[in-house]
Amino acid sequence: MVKVELSFGGSFNFVLVLMFYVFVIPTRCQDEVVMNILKNSISAPIVLQWTDPNVCKWKNINCDSRNRVTDIKLANQTLQGILPKELVKLTALQRFECQGNGLTGPFPYLSKSLQRLIIHDNQFTSIPSNFFTGMRNLQEVNIDDNPLSLWQIPNSLRDCVALRYFSAHNADINGTIPDIFGRDGPLSGLVFLELSSNYLEGVLPASLSSSSIEFLLVNGQNSNNKLTGTLDVLQNMTSLKKIWVNDNSFTGPIPDVSRLDQLSDINLRDNQLTGVVPPSLVNLPNLGLVKLTNNYLQGSPPKFRNGVEVDNNMVGSRNQFCTNVPGQPCSPLVNVLLLVIEPLGYPLEFAENWQGNDPCANKWVGIVCADGNISVINFQNMRLTGHISPNFASLSSLTKLLFANNSLTGTIPNQLTSMPLLQEFDVSNNHLYGRVPSFSEGVVLKLGGNPDIGKDKPSTSDNLGLGGSGNKSNGVSVIVGIILGIVILLCIGALLIIKFGKRFRIHTRMGKHPDAIKVHHKYQWDENDVKVSVVSNGEVSGVLSTTGNVYEASNMVISIQVLRQVTYNFCEEKIVGKGGFGTVYKGELHDGTQIAVKRMQSGMGDEKGPNEFTSEIAVLTKVRHKHLVSLLGYCLDGDERLLVYEYMPQGALSRHLFNWKEEGIKPLEWKTRLSIALDVARAVEYLHGFTQQIFIHRDLKPSNILLGDDMRAKVSDFGLVRLAPEGKLSFQTRLAGTFGYMAPEYAVTGRLTTKADVYSFGVILMEIITGRKALDDTQPEENIHLVTWFRRMLLNKSSFQTIIDQTIEVDEETYASINTVAELAGHCSAREPHQRPDMSHAVNVLSSLVEVWKPAEQDVDDIYGINFDMTLPEALQRWQAFEGRSTLDLTLSPSPMQTTGDNSHTSESPKVPSDARK
Ligand SMILES: *[C@@H]1O[C@H](CO)[C@@H](O)[C@H](O)[C@H]1NC(C)=O
Ligand SMILES: *[C@@H]1O[C@H](CO)[C@@H](O)[C@H](O)[C@H]1NC(C)=O
Ligand SMILES: *[C@@H]1O[C@H](CO)[C@@H](O)[C@H](O)[C@H]1NC(C)=O
Ligand SMILES: *[C@@H]1O[C@H](CO)[C@@H](O)[C@H](O)[C@H]1NC(C)=O
Ligand SMILES: *[C@@H]1O[C@H](CO)[C@@H](O)[C@H](O)[C@H]1NC(C)=O
Repeated sequence: MVKVELSFGGSFNFVLVLMFYVFVIPTRCQDEVVMNILKNSISAPIVLQWTDPNVCKWKNINCDSRNRVTDIKLANQTLQGILPKELVKLTALQRFECQGNGLTGPFPYLSKSLQRLIIHDNQFTSIPSNFFTGMRNLQEVNIDDNPLSLWQIPNSLRDCVALRYFSAHNADINGTIPDIFGRDGPLSGLVFLELSSNYLEGVLPASLSSSSIEFLLVNGQNSNNKLTGTLDVLQNMTSLKKIWVNDNSFTGPIPDVSRLDQLSDINLRDNQLTGVVPPSLVNLPNLGLVKLTNNYLQGSPPKFRNGVEVDNNMVGSRNQFCTNVPGQPCSPLVNVLLLVIEPLGYPLEFAENWQGNDPCANKWVGIVCADGNISVINFQNMRLTGHISPNFASLSSLTKLLFANNSLTGTIPNQLTSMPLLQEFDVSNNHLYGRVPSFSEGVVLKLGGNPDIGKDKPSTSDNLGLGGSGNKSNGVSVIVGIILGIVILLCIGALLIIKFGKRFRIHTRMGKHPDAIKVHHKYQWDENDVKVSVVSNGEVSGVLSTTGNVYEASNMVISIQVLRQVTYNFCEEKIVGKGGFGTVYKGELHDGTQIAVKRMQSGMGDEKGPNEFTSEIAVLTKVRHKHLVSLLGYCLDGDERLLVYEYMPQGALSRHLFNWKEEGIKPLEWKTRLSIALDVARAVEYLHGFTQQIFIHRDLKPSNILLGDDMRAKVSDFGLVRLAPEGKLSFQTRLAGTFGYMAPEYAVTGRLTTKADVYSFGVILMEIITGRKALDDTQPEENIHLVTWFRRMLLNKSSFQTIIDQTIEVDEETYASINTVAELAGHCSAREPHQRPDMSHAVNVLSSLVEVWKPAEQDVDDIYGINFDMTLPEALQRWQAFEGRSTLDLTLSPSPMQTTGDNSHTSESPKVPSDARK
């Protein structure tokens, strides 16, 4: 796409190509910009030494082989400030670590390439709820200890399929723990899960059961309810090494942990656990630390191996061990009672009450004694779940066994029929089923209110198989964690910068003398608050606007910092053109205004370079016309010499004439070609039309004709522009230009007149008609030179028809138009300069053709009150009328200079006496 056309001549000659679609912001360049924004946002301390132009050389930053930023590691740097949202544009970022700083504000989105996010111990106030969406590479997350406003673990955490480590201690999470952890689930690789000191509620999700988690820390929830339910899921978490569930509201017994043979650290204290400590816990081979204080544990206090650290008030706390001596067994009666309540899930009601080692002496709830023997079990109205233990049968002194008004399930055990003294058996109003065993005749049976009694199966499936581990939470439906999170799509617009209107505003005050003119350039950047003020030294005024037009200028100084920013530090990927004189970069201001920045080769020509540079500015600031590409500003800073032009999004005419197929664009219609030709003719006419100095372009060709989105053309590349010395219409100069477009007399003698441009224009017209290049090597020898071939074909009508570009739809009217232009082309490229017409003639011919089609339309440029067809002296005269007026903001207020009428599409042209050009 980037075409660098050959030019020859002095080393100061260059061919500039400004153009092209570059929609994708080059990512590497982007990194540099983003890193600089980051640097400013966190006021990077001096120790970081973030000064090198190459961000990859910055301390604590790593890049990959393509110079993309991959790691940012800023732990413990006493950083403050807010992270910029531009960080998301670091699309190769893998590690972001900023733990142990004072960073605040909302945490920004980061790239989906992220693998490691370590941001604990900061002051971040929020994390986007959909931060984790699509984070398929994320392996490690630590967001501990940030004052985030209450949020929930987002369901989008499911997307983090690579996640191994997730730590969110004291991170203000409320809601429940989502059920996304199973072996077959998205987070099957998770090894470390810390959610302690948050505001979580609800149960441990069932999917934890089949996870590979080794470290599970959910302790210390601050919510009113804390985490509830049983610890049953732990029994299958065979990878567990560390469990901290302390300081919650877990109930029920400690599950069988015999399969958790990796477990070394278990903290269950400060819950409401009941029942006996299972031997499986005591016997764990790798146990090192166990904490059981402040539960309602029952039975014999466990005696752990030597070397296992146990919290020292395990026994003295509210636990209900039957003795204070670890390892000492309970009385047989206590053992039986603990056995019979096991299938009931060790109800808290019993655990709170059943103190000591003697049920009768201590009047245990539900137990009625007579003569030191248990005579009645009265478990009525206790909301019990679970099933009836056969071990009741071993309480041989029982006379009454009362279970009325509970939610017991299962069947009535046969063993109960063997109880010698039993008189009453009341299980009314439960959910029992099955055959009723045959009690001896004297026993009063109360079975009412059990709809399924006598049937083989319970009618509702929820009662099936719950008996064995029945507990309070069976009545509570397990929340299968679906947390509602707002998932907002974020991907669009990552490369687009929102336009916030016209922020690129410059005020100027014009005075009588150049010295009196003060210029205040104020570049306002949104978001990042990069404010760059450029104040020119006041020699001549400059006005710069978002429309990209220069109204009058010289000394439109733009700082090197701004140009570095917009070109991503002159990143290679921003290059849109290269020539002998320098490199052209595309840039975009934060308001979306696109610019082309030409960077002169530094160190070039040493003495000559700067002269060329200044003389170019001199030329470019004198010529201003809506069909000439505008100079927006320049920068002279040390070795750096830069020119800033408006950017032309549709690229060069050559692209549309010769490369449309490769570029996948539509070939130009005849009408468009005609209007482009007229635009060019007007521009060149203007250049030639100055009375005192005549500008000669010297390098007119389709690659120097740039198109805007409206397909209106502007002539660019004034690098070869030469001023005819005052009073001289012909002068000798170093030869420069492009073969195929160069007038023969100029090529041979180096003598230059405006007619050299007319010749080139003629060649361009031929190209516009034929779609063929000035020099076409693919043609047979005699046809390579377009001008020669065209003239030959023009001789007769039938052959002429064949040279019209195939893509042009030719009707009668079009044909006539093409014919006229073809004649004009031949005329313009006549061999002898004096046979060629002036550009004003070409303008007249073309505008009369264009007028046939063009409806009159409002010219937007007139809104700004500038008549671009005015010559500079005319314009200066007008401006002098404003002498003494105060600040004039041309970009905002309609100027009183506004002219009436539309003279931009008519044949009106600078009224330059024609003899001035002869
Ligand atoms: C940051 O400081 C903390 C506390 O002083 C220390 O534990 C930690 O290792 C440090 N981290 C790094 C990456 O230096
Ligand atoms: C979490 O806390 C916020 C703020 O208090 C509240 O609006 C929200 O309902 C809570 N969410 C849950 C699930 O408790
Ligand atoms: C543990 O796993 C077994 C078999 O894999 C299963 O039957 C049982 O329901 C699981 N227990 C829990 C509490 O998930
Ligand atoms: C009641 O307890 C005493 C001893 O405490 C025992 O001798 C007696 O047999 C018991 N009675 C019954 C009916 O089990
Ligand atoms: C069982 O509950 C019912 C209704 O609440 C009540 O009428 C009845 O007396 C209760 N039965 C027992 C034994 O408490």
